[in-house]
Amino acid sequence: MMIAGNWKMNGLTADGVNLAKEITVAVKAKKRNCEFVVCPPFTLLSLVKKALRGGKIALGAQDCHAAEKGAHTGDISPVMLKDLGCSYVILGHSERRADHHETSAYVCQKVLAAHQAGLKTIVCIGETLEQREAGKTIDVCSRQVKESLPDGAKAADVVIAYEPVWAIGTGKTPTPQEVEDVHAAVRHVLAKKIGKVEAGKMRILYGGSVKPSNAAEMLSLPDVDGALIGGASLKSADFIAIADNAGC
Ligand code: 13P
Repeated sequence: MMIAGNWKMNGLTADGVNLAKEITVAVKAKKRNCEFVVCPPFTLLSLVKKALRGGKIALGAQDCHAAEKGAHTGDISPVMLKDLGCSYVILGHSERRADHHETSAYVCQKVLAAHQAGLKTIVCIGETLEQREAGKTIDVCSRQVKESLPDGAKAADVVIAYEPVWAIGTGKTPTPQEVEDVHAAVRHVLAKKIGKVEAGKMRILYGGSVKPSNAAEMLSLPDVDGALIGGASLKSADFIAIADNAGC
């Protein structure tokens, strides 16, 4: 089980350091059998890395460029993230697909570059409300998985995050059955793409308005292997309550 926090574009120095310290203390407070990841904005990565010291929480970034270095003003390469102590990078988040016109093919290039740099990837997929209402959820998500993952992707390097766009930051969620249906379909697509064994091992997280009150239900579904948490990851008490309620 993985509990991952995506802080998005939030947090100045003091907020980020405090949040990381609080989470470190709370995670250490009891024996836990889950993997924890926090993904602060680029500006906080170094400071949060220091604040997490001594704990078992992995550091992740929220995006990277597909190139190792070069003339890409304002971008950050996967090698730079690795150098800062990141072990994960989130790629293909719907906010990047929407705000920066990232296609699945481009996400796939980033995934490859991240793996080459020694990072693990959290690859996001998910349908819009319009696509859901048109009955295209499974088609859209299947296609995103096929196109965003490189051939031969391994469960040790890739985590999928299913995040319905309409559930992000809205307080709305699909029903547990709807979540399970998508996750099972994703695993089926994965089995065809990377083989049954790797597909069985690959973690598929749910994201979109995860909070302490729905964590137990969402994270006990057979094909749900954890959560990617936005808003509720900005409060240590909520982030930890989600983990606790999920049995972590
Ligand atoms: P919320 O938890 O705020 O809905 O955000 C989910 C998300 O986008 C995580 O990547």
